[in-house]
Amino acid sequence: MSLTNKLFHYDDLQAQFWRTDFPLLKSRVHDKPLIYLDNAATTQKPLAVIEAERNYYLYTNANVHRGIHSLSLQATEAYEHARTTAQHLLNAASSSEIIFVRGTTEAINLVAQSYGRSRLHSGDEIILSQMEHHSNIVPWQMLCQQTGATLRIIPVNDDGELRMEVFAGLLNEHTRLVAVTHVSNSLGTINPVAEIVAQAHRHGVPVLLDGAQAVAHLPVDVQALDCDFYAFSGHKLYGPTGIGVLYGKAALLEAMPPYQGGGDMIRSVSFAETTFNSLPYRFEAGTPNIAGAIGLGVAIDYLNNFDWEELLAHEQSLLTYAMQAMSDIPGLRIIGNAREKICILSFVLEGMHPHDVGTILDGEGVAIRTGHHCNMPLMERFGVPATARASFALYNSRHDVDVLVSAIQHAQEVFKQ
Ligand code: ALA
Repeated sequence: MSLTNKLFHYDDLQAQFWRTDFPLLKSRVHDKPLIYLDNAATTQKPLAVIEAERNYYLYTNANVHRGIHSLSLQATEAYEHARTTAQHLLNAASSSEIIFVRGTTEAINLVAQSYGRSRLHSGDEIILSQMEHHSNIVPWQMLCQQTGATLRIIPVNDDGELRMEVFAGLLNEHTRLVAVTHVSNSLGTINPVAEIVAQAHRHGVPVLLDGAQAVAHLPVDVQALDCDFYAFSGHKLYGPTGIGVLYGKAALLEAMPPYQGGGDMIRSVSFAETTFNSLPYRFEAGTPNIAGAIGLGVAIDYLNNFDWEELLAHEQSLLTYAMQAMSDIPGLRIIGNAREKICILSFVLEGMHPHDVGTILDGEGVAIRTGHHCNMPLMERFGVPATARASFALYNSRHDVDVLVSAIQHAQEVFKQ
């Protein structure tokens, strides 16, 4: 890599410009400029999102749906506008297919406890993969305990890709649901989800996709994918915490019993009987996270200002650069070499525990995540208790990779002493 290339790479200049939208990225940590590489855990928020939440509380704070006063009508309009924005992000056929939830975890629990509990029985099977986040494992284990159903697991190959030939053999007349991640939070692998959906549908089996790591990095079209459920969290998409979306096909959602009871999800209540509201409100019991939904809508608008092609090209070029730079470091093993992946790099360093790596990097201002990343079965698959993980977002640049590499080399020096 020539010096000119490093200094004047077009993507880098763009990223340096984009990063000015994110106030926290100007911070210093241990008196070093913050290099934020923990985006798979949560992304930083652009000023527009921070201001949207603040402005809601300053100017339109009121409860939604039931009020006839002006403020309540404004809050309702903003909340429902955010739903339409999320609908367009996923290209869902209708805004009534968009349920606001706390995040991906709640979305998956909703499907497990509503769809799963009402339909699954002893002897039924649910297919997951070895690379699932705990939030796409534990809700199904709980469902299995309640119903007598069992889990079947798609294994992962040495590069961190799903073994699709095994998946084909797992589908059978007992399969009731497939729940897999669109993108792995530890490996960065982009799974062939359209093919998974197509194969499952040939057996009449619905598919839930965990989109937590995908939505900020790939365009998602639920109609083109034909998936039955799609879940994502706002905070990994430059939006607030505590808000996320469950997309479900209307026909499936219509037939599902409510997940939680309370206000807003009912049509009428008497002590003898309750009838339930229409979609999507039937699944939104209680006062929702109104500020969060509005913030999420603004985060999606923010992302929509980008040209997806330019964004994908930037993140893929960063991935290539980072993979090359990291593989040049002696004693560093990258876990996750899928052909199709987003810019997430899990690695281990010979003779060093990932937590020590993380602590030394923090001293250099570099924020990465260390641990099992809520992927304990995947860690076991690769024979490690934990990894260090650098995960990138649109505002990261080659400069950040260079600082990461120097910090890793520094950590290795410290451990040699
Ligand atoms: N699921 C988040 C991660 O991968 C917390 O870090």
